[in-house]
Amino acid sequence: MHRCPNPFTTFKTPWSLSLSNPMGGINTFFLFIFLTLFLVGNGEQDAQIKALQTTVGSSLATADGFQSVLIRRAYKTIQAFKKKITYDPKNITKTWRGKNICRDYKGFLCDVRPDVNQTAIAGVKFNNYNFNGPNLTLTELITGLPDIVFFHANSNNFTGSIPTNLNKLKYFFELDLSNNNFSGRFPTEVLRANKLLFLDLRFNTFVGTVPSQVFGLKVDLLFINNNNFIQRLPANLGNTTALYLTLANNKFIGGIPPSIGQASNTLLEVLFLNNRLNGCLPYEIGFLKKATVFDVGFNRLHGPIPRSFQCLRKMELLNLAHNRFSGVVPEAVCSLPNLSNFTLSYNFFTQVGPQCRKLIKKGILNVDRNCISGLPYQRRRAVCSRFFATSQSCPNARSLTLVPCRQGLSDGELASSDIESTAPSPAPAQAPRRGSYGALSPH
Ligand SMILES: *[C@@H]1O[C@H](CO)[C@@H](O)[C@H](O)[C@H]1NC(C)=O
Ligand SMILES: *[C@@H]1O[C@H](CO)[C@@H](O)[C@H](O)[C@H]1NC(C)=O
Ligand SMILES: *[C@@H]1O[C@H](CO)[C@@H](O)[C@H](O)[C@H]1NC(C)=O
Ligand SMILES: *[C@@H]1O[C@H](CO)[C@@H](O)[C@H](O)[C@H]1NC(C)=O
Ligand SMILES: *[C@@H]1O[C@H](CO)[C@@H](O)[C@H](O)[C@H]1NC(C)=O
Ligand SMILES: *[C@@H]1O[C@H](CO)[C@@H](O)[C@H](O)[C@H]1NC(C)=O
Ligand SMILES: *[C@@H]1O[C@H](CO)[C@@H](O)[C@H](O)[C@H]1NC(C)=O
Ligand SMILES: *[C@@H]1O[C@H](CO)[C@@H](O)[C@H](O)[C@H]1NC(C)=O
Repeated sequence: MHRCPNPFTTFKTPWSLSLSNPMGGINTFFLFIFLTLFLVGNGEQDAQIKALQTTVGSSLATADGFQSVLIRRAYKTIQAFKKKITYDPKNITKTWRGKNICRDYKGFLCDVRPDVNQTAIAGVKFNNYNFNGPNLTLTELITGLPDIVFFHANSNNFTGSIPTNLNKLKYFFELDLSNNNFSGRFPTEVLRANKLLFLDLRFNTFVGTVPSQVFGLKVDLLFINNNNFIQRLPANLGNTTALYLTLANNKFIGGIPPSIGQASNTLLEVLFLNNRLNGCLPYEIGFLKKATVFDVGFNRLHGPIPRSFQCLRKMELLNLAHNRFSGVVPEAVCSLPNLSNFTLSYNFFTQVGPQCRKLIKKGILNVDRNCISGLPYQRRRAVCSRFFATSQSCPNARSLTLVPCRQGLSDGELASSDIESTAPSPAPAQAPRRGSYGALSPH
């Protein structure tokens, strides 16, 4: 369950995505590629692509022996980039010799680019190569490979800036720069990559703020955890189309924006873990009817668990530990059908009913270090008294008793069905189940 996932194991196959684009035209051959690549595992993809492209690309070979003019252009880029690498512990660049890039070069994947019907470099996969160099920048590499669909470079020592022309890359769907040596402000250049579905910038040392436009990107996956971002979460956070959103291990402050409820048709997993969030949980979280993971552990949040949480029918992992929550643990939340880990330890809850006690017995609910009399491992009475003497109320107190999924709403309250209709239906899930937790390790 906590294996280190590659969120992209079922990567959306390169250019076949353009099948749905009328400009691309429907072509049974690409449909075939699309279906096979979509259905087979990752390991077989390379072989498939290679098999395909030895048959397809050949007739477009250049006179000087490259598979296509696009490959010849890539050759120059790759050879120039090779000179920048001074540390290559896995001897990857030793394979970067000769003209048959598609067959020989580790780290590059070829496919036929549909609009020009020529073999090109479809993807770069440098994960865990640990490349380093005194000035290992990306700009020339990405700019010189304009056909790429994905650039995955987890665990290298890339540094410097991000290319500014990402909007020119017609098929650029996935950017993974996690666990590198990027620093400074959020790389706003990525906002131009308007085709991106995956954006993974975790484990760098970015500082400052995340521009609100990031939550307007039409991505499926947004990982920006383990940086040094400091700011209030932008009010438009809930505009994100991400299925997997991890903001963990930064220095975000303020409250969780109520707009989060707008992500109800898409959001599956969200990690706010280990920031400096405060305030009370907004009841709109209860609209997240598809969510299976919600984690706000290690923050400074207070107030009760909103009653709306009983609407989180798919929830499996719910972590509110290490905050300042209080009140009664709602029985209806303990009755959620699929809860497998409900962690409330290190808060100030005062009561649990029979349903919740069942979960405690089963080892699903953890209420250690709270203020529940009669249960073991609780905080000392004096600590609880001190907390309750100074505890704050919630500005949104009334909304915290609303249950938006219950039939027969009065007062014209917004039902979750009212905000469902407009959002697009989600793409198929790309990360493995509970993939977001894997994002909390660097690799
Ligand atoms: C890389 O090549 C060097 C020298 O040829 C060799 O000593 C080393 O074991 C190789 N490393 C790997 C991981 O193959
Ligand atoms: C693409 O090129 C191959 C061989 O070069 C050719 O057989 C095929 O008909 C071309 N397809 C399109 C759609 O032009
Ligand atoms: C690092 O590389 C970039 C791009 O190749 C170049 O513009 C810059 O001058 C280099 N910096 C150093 C210190 O070599
Ligand atoms: C980056 O370089 C430093 C220093 O050489 C090294 O300790 C670190 O492991 C490298 N990071 C990666 C991901 O290769
Ligand atoms: C990381 O990048 C900085 C410049 O931003 C550079 O001084 C440092 O040497 C790099 N570290 C590694 C391990 O490459
Ligand atoms: C969210 O997006 C919609 C449409 O894309 C826009 O009208 C709305 O203003 C956005 N909300 C926020 C809070 O930015
Ligand atoms: C509950 O979780 C299991 C897997 O853990 C899943 O197969 C099932 O569809 C889920 N049920 C609901 C109601 O979400
Ligand atoms: C439940 O979740 C908590 C917090 O995320 C974690 O620390 C704990 O190990 C999990 N328990 C199990 C049994 O997986």
